[in-house]
Amino acid sequence: MDIRDFRLERYMAQHEFSAPFLLCSSDCETLSIQDLLTFEDQSYENFLNLKLGYTEAPGSPELREEISAWYNAIDSNDVIVTSGAEETIFIAMHVLLRSGDHVIVQMPAYQSLHEIPKSIGCHVSPWHMVEKNGAWHLDLEILHDLITPNTKVLVINSPHNPTGYQFSASDWAEIEKICSDHSIFIISDEVYRGIEHNPDTALNPMADMSESALSIGVMSKSLGLAGLRIGWVASQNEEFRKKFQAFKDYTTICNSGPSEYLARLALKYKDQIIKNNLSIIHENMDILHTFFKSYADQVTWSAPIAGSTAFPRLVSDTPVETFCDKVRKDTGVLLLPGTVFHVETPHFRLGYGRKNMPDILGRFEQYLQSRI
Ligand SMILES: Cc1ncc(COP(=O)(O)O)c(C=O)c1O
Repeated sequence: MDIRDFRLERYMAQHEFSAPFLLCSSDCETLSIQDLLTFEDQSYENFLNLKLGYTEAPGSPELREEISAWYNAIDSNDVIVTSGAEETIFIAMHVLLRSGDHVIVQMPAYQSLHEIPKSIGCHVSPWHMVEKNGAWHLDLEILHDLITPNTKVLVINSPHNPTGYQFSASDWAEIEKICSDHSIFIISDEVYRGIEHNPDTALNPMADMSESALSIGVMSKSLGLAGLRIGWVASQNEEFRKKFQAFKDYTTICNSGPSEYLARLALKYKDQIIKNNLSIIHENMDILHTFFKSYADQVTWSAPIAGSTAFPRLVSDTPVETFCDKVRKDTGVLLLPGTVFHVETPHFRLGYGRKNMPDILGRFEQYLQSRI
Protein backbone atom coordinates (compact mmCIF):
# COMPACT_ATOMS: atom_id res chain seq x y z
CA MET A 1 0.00 0.00 0.00
CA ASP A 2 1.42 3.32 -1.10
CA ILE A 3 0.05 6.15 1.04
CA ARG A 4 1.25 9.69 1.80
CA ASP A 5 1.83 10.88 5.34
CA PHE A 6 -1.33 12.03 7.12
CA ARG A 7 -0.34 15.68 7.52
CA LEU A 8 -2.72 16.55 10.34
CA GLU A 9 -1.90 13.46 12.40
CA ARG A 10 1.88 13.93 11.87
CA TYR A 11 1.54 17.57 13.01
CA MET A 12 -0.46 16.59 16.09
CA ALA A 13 1.94 13.75 16.89
CA GLN A 14 4.76 16.28 16.89
CA HIS A 15 3.10 18.99 19.00
CA GLU A 16 -0.07 17.82 20.78
CA PHE A 17 1.69 16.49 23.86
CA SER A 18 4.47 19.07 24.04
CA ALA A 19 2.70 22.38 23.32
CA PRO A 20 1.21 23.47 26.66
CA PHE A 21 -1.90 25.26 25.33
CA LEU A 22 -4.04 23.56 22.70
CA LEU A 23 -6.26 25.94 20.75
CA CYS A 24 -6.93 23.65 17.79
CA SER A 25 -8.40 20.48 19.31
CA SER A 26 -11.43 19.11 17.54
CA ASP A 27 -12.81 17.12 20.47
CA CYS A 28 -15.01 18.42 23.29
CA GLU A 29 -14.21 18.40 27.00
CA THR A 30 -13.33 14.89 28.12
CA LEU A 31 -14.42 12.86 31.16
CA SER A 32 -12.61 10.46 33.49
CA ILE A 33 -13.48 6.79 33.94
CA GLN A 34 -14.78 7.76 37.38
CA ASP A 35 -17.05 10.44 35.89
CA LEU A 36 -18.60 7.81 33.63
CA LEU A 37 -18.96 5.17 36.34
CA THR A 38 -20.82 7.57 38.63
CA PHE A 39 -23.63 7.82 36.07
CA GLU A 40 -24.99 4.45 37.15
CA ASP A 41 -25.18 2.43 40.40
CA GLN A 42 -23.30 -0.86 40.26
CA SER A 43 -21.26 0.17 37.25
CA TYR A 44 -18.07 0.52 39.35
CA GLU A 45 -18.26 -3.12 40.48
CA ASN A 46 -19.39 -4.31 37.04
CA PHE A 47 -16.48 -2.55 35.38
CA LEU A 48 -13.90 -3.97 37.80
CA ASN A 49 -15.33 -7.48 37.36
CA LEU A 50 -15.29 -7.31 33.58
CA LYS A 51 -13.39 -10.25 32.07
CA LEU A 52 -10.76 -9.36 29.54
CA GLY A 53 -11.32 -12.04 26.92
CA TYR A 54 -12.06 -11.46 23.23
CA THR A 55 -15.27 -9.55 22.58
CA GLU A 56 -18.00 -10.09 19.95
CA ALA A 57 -16.69 -9.14 16.50
CA PRO A 58 -19.42 -6.62 15.57
CA GLY A 59 -19.42 -5.10 19.07
CA SER A 60 -21.39 -6.07 22.17
CA PRO A 61 -25.16 -6.33 21.62
CA GLU A 62 -25.72 -3.83 24.47
CA LEU A 63 -23.43 -1.25 22.90
CA ARG A 64 -24.90 -1.72 19.41
CA GLU A 65 -28.37 -1.32 20.91
CA GLU A 66 -27.34 1.95 22.56
CA ILE A 67 -25.77 3.21 19.30
CA SER A 68 -28.83 2.31 17.23
CA ALA A 69 -31.01 4.30 19.65
CA TRP A 70 -29.30 7.42 18.19
CA TYR A 71 -30.89 6.61 14.78
CA ASN A 72 -34.42 6.04 13.49
CA ALA A 73 -34.27 3.47 10.68
CA ILE A 74 -31.15 1.74 12.02
CA ASP A 75 -31.40 -1.19 14.42
CA SER A 76 -28.62 -2.85 16.37
CA ASN A 77 -27.92 -5.37 13.57
CA ASP A 78 -27.15 -2.46 11.25
CA VAL A 79 -24.26 -1.28 13.45
CA ILE A 80 -20.67 -2.56 13.52
CA VAL A 81 -18.39 -1.19 16.22
CA THR A 82 -14.82 -0.24 15.28
CA SER A 83 -11.64 1.09 16.85
CA GLY A 84 -12.45 4.73 16.16
CA ALA A 85 -13.86 6.44 13.09
CA GLU A 86 -10.46 6.08 11.46
CA GLU A 87 -10.87 2.29 11.24
CA THR A 88 -14.39 2.74 9.87
CA ILE A 89 -13.08 5.01 7.11
CA PHE A 90 -10.27 2.61 6.23
CA ILE A 91 -12.48 -0.45 6.01
CA ALA A 92 -15.42 1.25 4.28
CA MET A 93 -13.19 2.61 1.52
CA HIS A 94 -11.56 -0.78 0.95
CA VAL A 95 -14.90 -2.53 0.83
CA LEU A 96 -16.59 -0.07 -1.52
CA LEU A 97 -13.79 0.95 -3.89
CA ARG A 98 -11.47 -0.58 -6.47
CA SER A 99 -8.59 0.85 -8.47
CA GLY A 100 -9.91 3.05 -11.31
CA ASP A 101 -13.17 3.99 -9.55
CA HIS A 102 -14.15 7.64 -9.38
CA VAL A 103 -14.84 9.22 -5.99
CA ILE A 104 -16.05 12.74 -5.12
CA VAL A 105 -14.89 14.18 -1.79
CA GLN A 106 -16.06 17.35 -0.06
CA MET A 107 -12.95 19.46 0.54
CA PRO A 108 -11.20 20.42 2.74
CA ALA A 109 -11.41 17.08 4.50
CA TYR A 110 -9.92 14.93 7.21
CA GLN A 111 -7.13 13.45 5.11
CA SER A 112 -8.08 9.76 5.22
CA LEU A 113 -11.36 10.63 3.49
CA HIS A 114 -9.47 11.39 0.25
CA GLU A 115 -6.09 9.75 0.81
CA ILE A 116 -7.34 6.19 1.28
CA PRO A 117 -9.32 6.23 -2.00
CA LYS A 118 -6.17 7.57 -3.70
CA SER A 119 -4.04 4.81 -2.17
CA ILE A 120 -6.52 2.27 -3.59
CA GLY A 121 -5.96 3.78 -7.04
CA CYS A 122 -9.21 5.75 -7.34
CA HIS A 123 -9.60 9.04 -9.21
CA VAL A 124 -10.61 11.59 -6.60
CA SER A 125 -12.45 14.78 -7.55
CA PRO A 126 -12.54 17.44 -4.85
CA TRP A 127 -15.90 19.11 -4.25
CA HIS A 128 -14.55 22.42 -2.93
CA MET A 129 -16.18 24.47 -0.22
CA VAL A 130 -16.02 28.22 -0.79
CA GLU A 131 -16.06 31.09 1.68
CA LYS A 132 -18.41 33.92 0.65
CA ASN A 133 -19.98 36.80 2.57
CA GLY A 134 -18.97 35.45 5.97
CA ALA A 135 -20.14 31.87 5.48
CA TRP A 136 -18.99 28.58 3.95
CA HIS A 137 -20.87 27.21 0.95
CA LEU A 138 -21.07 24.08 -1.20
CA ASP A 139 -22.69 24.27 -4.59
CA LEU A 140 -24.90 21.33 -5.62
CA GLU A 141 -24.63 22.38 -9.28
CA ILE A 142 -20.90 21.69 -9.03
CA LEU A 143 -21.62 18.29 -7.52
CA HIS A 144 -23.80 17.52 -10.58
CA ASP A 145 -20.94 18.53 -12.88
CA LEU A 146 -18.41 16.33 -11.08
CA ILE A 147 -20.41 13.12 -11.48
CA THR A 148 -19.20 10.70 -14.17
CA PRO A 149 -20.59 7.31 -15.22
CA ASN A 150 -17.77 5.80 -13.14
CA THR A 151 -18.53 7.67 -9.88
CA LYS A 152 -18.95 5.05 -7.17
CA VAL A 153 -18.84 7.01 -3.93
CA LEU A 154 -19.55 10.51 -2.60
CA VAL A 155 -17.79 11.40 0.67
CA ILE A 156 -19.37 14.11 2.81
CA ASN A 157 -18.76 15.39 6.32
CA SER A 158 -21.35 17.36 8.28
CA PRO A 159 -20.96 18.96 10.82
CA HIS A 160 -17.72 19.71 9.07
CA ASN A 161 -14.13 19.62 10.30
CA PRO A 162 -12.52 22.17 10.08
CA THR A 163 -15.02 24.86 8.95
CA GLY A 164 -17.97 24.17 11.27
CA TYR A 165 -20.23 24.12 8.20
CA GLN A 166 -23.43 22.14 8.14
CA PHE A 167 -25.61 21.30 5.14
CA SER A 168 -29.15 22.66 5.07
CA ALA A 169 -31.84 19.99 5.37
CA SER A 170 -32.94 20.68 1.78
CA ASP A 171 -29.41 20.28 0.34
CA TRP A 172 -28.98 17.13 2.43
CA ALA A 173 -32.14 15.61 0.96
CA GLU A 174 -31.08 16.73 -2.52
CA ILE A 175 -27.68 15.04 -2.14
CA GLU A 176 -29.41 11.80 -1.21
CA LYS A 177 -31.60 12.08 -4.32
CA ILE A 178 -28.73 12.93 -6.68
CA CYS A 179 -26.74 9.94 -5.42
CA SER A 180 -29.70 7.63 -5.61
CA ASP A 181 -30.39 8.76 -9.23
CA HIS A 182 -26.77 7.99 -10.18
CA SER A 183 -26.31 4.82 -8.06
CA ILE A 184 -23.60 6.49 -5.99
CA PHE A 185 -22.95 5.15 -2.49
CA ILE A 186 -22.71 7.86 0.20
CA ILE A 187 -20.03 7.77 2.89
CA SER A 188 -21.30 10.27 5.42
CA ASP A 189 -18.83 11.20 8.13
CA GLU A 190 -21.04 12.34 11.01
CA VAL A 191 -18.49 12.22 13.81
CA TYR A 192 -19.43 15.73 15.03
CA ARG A 193 -23.12 14.85 15.27
CA GLY A 194 -24.84 16.11 18.42
CA ILE A 195 -23.08 19.47 18.65
CA GLU A 196 -25.09 21.42 16.08
CA HIS A 197 -25.13 24.90 17.66
CA ASN A 198 -28.87 25.07 17.12
CA PRO A 199 -30.00 21.49 17.84
CA ASP A 200 -33.21 22.10 15.83
CA THR A 201 -31.09 22.16 12.66
CA ALA A 202 -29.57 18.69 13.25
CA LEU A 203 -29.80 16.55 10.11
CA ASN A 204 -31.12 13.03 9.87
CA PRO A 205 -28.20 10.62 9.65
CA MET A 206 -27.64 9.56 6.02
CA ALA A 207 -27.85 5.90 7.07
CA ASP A 208 -31.45 6.55 8.16
CA MET A 209 -32.30 8.11 4.80
CA SER A 210 -30.84 5.67 2.31
CA GLU A 211 -29.93 2.01 1.90
CA SER A 212 -27.02 3.11 -0.29
CA ALA A 213 -25.32 5.04 2.44
CA LEU A 214 -23.36 4.63 5.61
CA SER A 215 -23.01 6.94 8.58
CA ILE A 216 -19.77 7.09 10.53
CA GLY A 217 -20.03 7.80 14.25
CA VAL A 218 -17.54 7.97 17.08
CA MET A 219 -17.21 8.58 20.83
CA SER A 220 -14.35 11.05 20.31
CA LYS A 221 -15.90 14.38 19.38
CA SER A 222 -19.27 15.49 20.80
CA LEU A 223 -18.82 13.11 23.76
CA GLY A 224 -15.14 13.96 24.28
CA LEU A 225 -14.11 10.32 24.73
CA ALA A 226 -11.42 9.87 22.06
CA GLY A 227 -9.29 7.70 24.36
CA LEU A 228 -11.91 4.94 24.26
CA ARG A 229 -11.08 4.45 20.55
CA ILE A 230 -14.66 3.39 19.87
CA GLY A 231 -16.37 4.30 16.62
CA TRP A 232 -18.91 2.61 14.39
CA VAL A 233 -20.48 2.26 11.01
CA ALA A 234 -24.27 2.30 10.63
CA SER A 235 -25.82 1.12 7.37
CA GLN A 236 -29.04 -0.55 6.28
CA ASN A 237 -27.11 -2.21 3.45
CA GLU A 238 -26.64 -5.84 4.43
CA GLU A 239 -24.25 -6.73 1.62
CA PHE A 240 -21.99 -3.82 2.57
CA ARG A 241 -22.09 -4.78 6.26
CA LYS A 242 -21.14 -8.40 5.53
CA LYS A 243 -18.10 -7.27 3.55
CA PHE A 244 -17.19 -4.71 6.21
CA GLN A 245 -17.32 -7.33 8.97
CA ALA A 246 -15.21 -9.76 6.94
CA PHE A 247 -12.57 -7.09 6.25
CA LYS A 248 -12.39 -6.19 9.95
CA ASP A 249 -10.97 -9.66 10.63
CA TYR A 250 -7.79 -8.29 9.03
CA THR A 251 -7.62 -5.07 11.08
CA THR A 252 -8.72 -5.33 14.73
CA ILE A 253 -11.08 -8.39 14.73
CA CYS A 254 -12.98 -7.10 17.75
CA ASN A 255 -12.84 -4.13 20.13
CA SER A 256 -11.52 -3.43 23.60
CA GLY A 257 -13.96 -4.78 26.21
CA PRO A 258 -13.37 -2.02 28.81
CA SER A 259 -13.84 0.62 26.11
CA GLU A 260 -17.05 -0.98 24.91
CA TYR A 261 -18.37 -1.06 28.46
CA LEU A 262 -17.59 2.63 29.05
CA ALA A 263 -18.89 3.63 25.61
CA ARG A 264 -22.26 1.98 26.30
CA LEU A 265 -22.48 3.81 29.59
CA ALA A 266 -21.59 7.17 28.02
CA LEU A 267 -24.10 6.70 25.20
CA LYS A 268 -26.84 5.89 27.68
CA TYR A 269 -26.21 9.27 29.29
CA LYS A 270 -25.22 11.06 26.08
CA ASP A 271 -27.91 13.76 26.35
CA GLN A 272 -26.39 14.95 29.61
CA ILE A 273 -22.80 14.84 28.30
CA ILE A 274 -23.69 16.61 25.06
CA LYS A 275 -25.74 19.24 26.92
CA ASN A 276 -22.64 20.12 28.99
CA ASN A 277 -20.43 20.25 25.93
CA LEU A 278 -22.93 22.37 24.00
CA SER A 279 -23.06 24.87 26.82
CA ILE A 280 -19.23 25.13 26.73
CA ILE A 281 -19.46 25.63 22.95
CA HIS A 282 -22.08 28.38 23.28
CA GLU A 283 -20.06 30.24 25.92
CA ASN A 284 -16.90 29.94 23.83
CA MET A 285 -18.71 31.08 20.68
CA ASP A 286 -19.82 34.30 22.41
CA ILE A 287 -16.21 34.99 23.37
CA LEU A 288 -15.00 34.20 19.85
CA HIS A 289 -17.52 36.55 18.22
CA THR A 290 -16.12 39.40 20.30
CA PHE A 291 -12.55 38.29 19.64
CA PHE A 292 -12.97 38.24 15.85
CA LYS A 293 -14.64 41.66 15.93
CA SER A 294 -11.69 43.08 17.89
CA TYR A 295 -8.96 41.60 15.70
CA ALA A 296 -10.60 41.79 12.26
CA ASP A 297 -7.52 43.53 10.90
CA GLN A 298 -5.42 40.42 11.69
CA VAL A 299 -7.76 37.41 11.54
CA THR A 300 -11.20 36.96 9.97
CA TRP A 301 -13.67 34.10 10.19
CA SER A 302 -16.86 32.68 8.80
CA ALA A 303 -18.56 31.77 12.06
CA PRO A 304 -19.16 28.02 12.40
CA ILE A 305 -22.74 26.80 12.84
CA ALA A 306 -22.03 23.25 14.03
CA GLY A 307 -19.27 21.17 15.58
CA SER A 308 -16.32 22.29 17.69
CA THR A 309 -13.90 23.76 15.14
CA ALA A 310 -13.62 26.94 13.08
CA PHE A 311 -11.35 27.76 10.16
CA PRO A 312 -10.29 31.42 10.46
CA ARG A 313 -8.10 33.19 7.95
CA LEU A 314 -4.95 35.17 8.54
CA VAL A 315 -4.96 38.73 7.13
CA SER A 316 -1.28 38.92 6.32
CA ASP A 317 1.32 37.85 3.82
CA THR A 318 3.06 35.68 6.41
CA PRO A 319 2.76 32.02 5.40
CA VAL A 320 0.28 30.42 7.79
CA GLU A 321 2.73 27.69 8.84
CA THR A 322 5.29 30.33 9.84
CA PHE A 323 2.57 32.19 11.76
CA CYS A 324 1.47 29.05 13.65
CA ASP A 325 5.11 28.15 14.41
CA LYS A 326 5.77 31.59 15.79
CA VAL A 327 2.61 31.59 17.92
CA ARG A 328 3.59 28.20 19.35
CA LYS A 329 7.20 29.17 20.08
CA ASP A 330 6.34 32.59 21.59
CA THR A 331 3.25 31.64 23.60
CA GLY A 332 2.98 27.83 23.78
CA VAL A 333 -0.41 28.04 22.01
CA LEU A 334 -0.97 25.37 19.36
CA LEU A 335 -2.92 26.29 16.21
CA LEU A 336 -3.26 24.02 13.21
CA PRO A 337 -2.17 25.50 9.86
CA GLY A 338 -4.58 24.94 6.96
CA THR A 339 -1.72 23.39 4.99
CA VAL A 340 -2.32 20.15 6.90
CA PHE A 341 -5.75 20.14 5.19
CA HIS A 342 -4.02 20.70 1.82
CA VAL A 343 -5.52 24.21 1.71
CA GLU A 344 -3.47 26.90 -0.01
CA THR A 345 -5.23 29.91 1.53
CA PRO A 346 -3.89 31.21 4.89
CA HIS A 347 -6.50 29.47 7.06
CA PHE A 348 -5.85 27.77 10.38
CA ARG A 349 -8.01 25.57 12.61
CA LEU A 350 -9.22 26.76 15.97
CA GLY A 351 -11.06 24.43 18.40
CA TYR A 352 -13.61 25.69 20.93
CA GLY A 353 -15.09 22.57 22.53
CA ARG A 354 -13.08 22.74 25.73
CA LYS A 355 -13.50 24.62 29.02
CA ASN A 356 -10.01 26.13 28.96
CA MET A 357 -10.52 27.85 25.59
CA PRO A 358 -11.05 31.38 26.99
CA ASP A 359 -7.71 31.29 28.89
CA ILE A 360 -5.81 29.98 25.89
CA LEU A 361 -7.50 32.46 23.56
CA GLY A 362 -6.28 35.17 25.97
CA ARG A 363 -2.67 34.06 25.36
CA PHE A 364 -3.25 34.14 21.60
CA GLU A 365 -4.80 37.59 21.98
CA GLN A 366 -1.68 38.87 23.80
CA TYR A 367 0.36 37.64 20.85
CA LEU A 368 -1.87 39.50 18.37
CA GLN A 369 -1.64 42.67 20.50
CA SER A 370 2.16 42.41 20.47
CA ARG A 371 2.06 42.55 16.64
CA ILE A 372 0.20 45.88 16.53
C1 LIG B 1 -14.09 14.33 10.11
C2 LIG B 1 -13.35 13.31 10.92
N1 LIG B 1 -13.53 12.01 10.65
C3 LIG B 1 -12.89 11.05 11.33
C4 LIG B 1 -12.02 11.37 12.36
C5 LIG B 1 -11.31 10.27 13.11
O1 LIG B 1 -11.86 10.12 14.39
P1 LIG B 1 -11.14 9.18 15.46
O2 LIG B 1 -9.82 9.80 15.73
O3 LIG B 1 -11.98 9.23 16.66
O4 LIG B 1 -11.01 7.84 14.87
C6 LIG B 1 -11.80 12.71 12.67
C7 LIG B 1 -10.84 13.09 13.74
O5 LIG B 1 -10.40 14.20 13.85
C8 LIG B 1 -12.49 13.71 11.93
O6 LIG B 1 -12.34 15.01 12.21
